[in-house]
Amino acid sequence: MQAKDIVYLNGSFVPRAEARVSVEDRGFVFGDGVYEVLRAINGRLFATRFHNRRLEKSLAGVRIALQGDDSPERFVDVGKQLLKENSLTGGEATVYMQVTRGAATRAHNFPPADTPPTIYISVARFTPYSEFAEKGASAITHPDLRWGRCDLKTLNLLPNVLASQVAKERGTFEAMLIRDGVVTEGTKTNFFGVVNGSLRTHPCDSHILPGITRSVLRELATALGIELDETPIKESEIPKLSELFLTGTTTDVMPVVRLDDKPIGLGKPGELTRKLQRVLQESLASGGD
Ligand code: PDD
Repeated sequence: MQAKDIVYLNGSFVPRAEARVSVEDRGFVFGDGVYEVLRAINGRLFATRFHNRRLEKSLAGVRIALQGDDSPERFVDVGKQLLKENSLTGGEATVYMQVTRGAATRAHNFPPADTPPTIYISVARFTPYSEFAEKGASAITHPDLRWGRCDLKTLNLLPNVLASQVAKERGTFEAMLIRDGVVTEGTKTNFFGVVNGSLRTHPCDSHILPGITRSVLRELATALGIELDETPIKESEIPKLSELFLTGTTTDVMPVVRLDDKPIGLGKPGELTRKLQRVLQESLASGGD
């Protein structure tokens, strides 16, 4: 916890311990809401336009309408204000934004249209996983038990939570999810692999979250002349992987050197992974607004 711990809830900046949400909030009762996680470096937020667009899509996808002056752009301003309030304008931090369908008597269908959404924004100090970034992490494969709209960043994360816990209990960093015989993504990351020399990842369809780090990395790879093949990696191709890495707002490019207790490639971060890791680091260091 930061020394000063101020959060934003429904228009007010309040100490976290005093922030109150109704027990009838649909985020609490149904997981009926959406969220974003942004990276802040020295008070600057990274890739805000991408995050804003994705939040808009998530809100539209679950049919939550913001009211009054509220907008993703406004939430970014609130995030920046919170970084100041919490003395997090130096070093690494994350900004969490959550919008639920608001509080109403429990009923599965939507509450009246004038029910205000609940808006919650908070910030936290962040320590990058430098050791895993350097040496590489391990992962397991796990069935992807999620629904058919994984492209929306909703609060319904139970399959992710369960798979992530299995990964942790097996002493690994992440679970690589498998649906219909192909690698989709991780519980909180996108997965990339090198098969027969080509860089592959799952295409952006309804079975993965369109990761912001994935998009940024794709642009950086293109600029380096590295082509990204969006043909999903088949489970049967896993033994052919010479490199594997994951991407995410809180993981950057993280090499995966062991999968299900077997080494990937030479069991150490691969050349292409290292190159992409470097360019993303440079972009994070110089980017933001
Ligand atoms: N997770 N896939 C899933 C299922 C995710 O939850 C995330 C992000 C990603 C990577 O997306 P991005 O590059 O935009 O962070 C992929 C966030 C960090 C979280 O839930 O905490």
